[in-house]
Amino acid sequence: MTTPTIERITPPRIRIFDTTLRDGEQSPGCSMSPQQKLVMARALDELGVDVIETGFPASSQSDREAMTMIGREVQRPVLAVLSRCLAADIETSVRSLDSAAHPRLHVFLSTSPLHREHKLRMTREQVLESVRKHVALARSYIDDVEFSAEDATRTELDYLIEVSRVAIAAGATTINLPDTVGFTTPEEIRAMFQQVIAGVADVSGAERVIFSAHCHNDLGLAVANSLAAIEGGARQVECTVNGIGERAGNCAVEEIAMALKVRQAFYDQDTAINTQRIVSTSQLLQRLVGMPVQRNKAIVGANAFAHESGIHQHGMLRHRGTYEIMRPEDVGWEDSQMVLGRHSGRAAVEARLRALGFWLEEEELKLVFEQFKSLCEQQRVVTDSDLQTLMQGGASTQGYRLASMTISDVGSRANALVELSDPDGNRVAETAQGDGPVDALFGALSSATGVSLQLDSYQVHSVGIGADARGEANLSVRSGDEVFEGTGTSRDIIEASALAWLDVANRLLRQREATAAPDTAAAAAHA
Ligand code: KIV
Ligand code: ZN
Repeated sequence: MTTPTIERITPPRIRIFDTTLRDGEQSPGCSMSPQQKLVMARALDELGVDVIETGFPASSQSDREAMTMIGREVQRPVLAVLSRCLAADIETSVRSLDSAAHPRLHVFLSTSPLHREHKLRMTREQVLESVRKHVALARSYIDDVEFSAEDATRTELDYLIEVSRVAIAAGATTINLPDTVGFTTPEEIRAMFQQVIAGVADVSGAERVIFSAHCHNDLGLAVANSLAAIEGGARQVECTVNGIGERAGNCAVEEIAMALKVRQAFYDQDTAINTQRIVSTSQLLQRLVGMPVQRNKAIVGANAFAHESGIHQHGMLRHRGTYEIMRPEDVGWEDSQMVLGRHSGRAAVEARLRALGFWLEEEELKLVFEQFKSLCEQQRVVTDSDLQTLMQGGASTQGYRLASMTISDVGSRANALVELSDPDGNRVAETAQGDGPVDALFGALSSATGVSLQLDSYQVHSVGIGADARGEANLSVRSGDEVFEGTGTSRDIIEASALAWLDVANRLLRQREATAAPDTAAAAAHA
């Protein structure tokens, strides 16, 4: 028997349930391999989240593998997996949780009239019966069971109370009331939590149940709605790093954690988030999925603490509090960048990688350190940006790597020569001409890899300041229904563009490889 989450947290506080690896990973352009999920899970552990939802095991072999790998290594937080109200899904989920020290089974079923009629084709009574049966089945295997009433905010209130009563009586230890389509408002969701909590109060065991909010951001209200849910009595918030998730995303963990910290006097609630790890965790995810956040994104955007206007700068110089409600260092922004070089040892490289959000196993560190040493032969100093680029093509990913590139003018056109090492370590060289250097470069990369990319967007901007400034290129590509994003950083923007192109191409190739060996259970659609 495992100890349910609710008894493991003293004193009581807001539990942070992170679903970056499940709801976040379901969103376009954000899919992650099991190895990438493990890297992210280690960082979430360091960030201090209470629960990590690792995936939806019945939907893919990859999610089952990820759960097993994470369970073997990440022992502190509760590890949850999602499951439909189907016996086969629940049994697959239970098996995948074998390696977890603190497992949670998260079962869900839609409750709104729209979903009952058009998605499930079930009556009110059939939904109630399914909740009763499947929560009880889940509870017969695992002590920590969360039930989610999908589309709760568009469900009749009396019926939502009835469903919650049935789920609690069947053994649910957490009741999640999601705003699945991001439709609600702060006033409405606060009242909904108050009324549901009051409506189940006489059910045996209800006093130990944790109520949870899971808000989507379709109207840009996910964080505001989650805060209002807390005012209404929610004690768990479901969120994702950088707010990634279905459509417009989920409540962003960095925003809710900082809102509760900065406005502690108002909400009188804490979280266990180590806020100084926020920026590195955010940047790690941006690199892993190749999806940068916008510059003005709260807390983790490049401009979140930048003051440009003269009036603001003047105020800041007199007193930081004039225009700053939190200090950049409190969320992990650093004023100075540590520079590593030929004389740096393994411990220094490891410490820097950890500060950037990479927590490596002994063997992985050994490999990365060797790559670091060969980089030092080519350049005098290795910056954070170099380390991140190394990690992108290093320990956790394989694919085409850029060995060299030369761009020259041919009359009014440009010529590109690229040399790559392919996934088996062989050298491939190709040339192409184009209307400009980037056009020629992308043509040569396409011939060398055999991948043709239809670009949705291509952006280049500078990151860092002064001598440390780098060019960062971001590419977005559509292939069928999927969007692939890639990032590359270098002192030279043409090289940054080549790295971003290869980042996308490698993601696309990995995805093609994964779907070439389809999993039969994958036929089950994601929630
Ligand atoms: O948005 C939602 O309703 C969900 C549930 C499956 C929890 O993600
Ligand atoms: Zn969701």
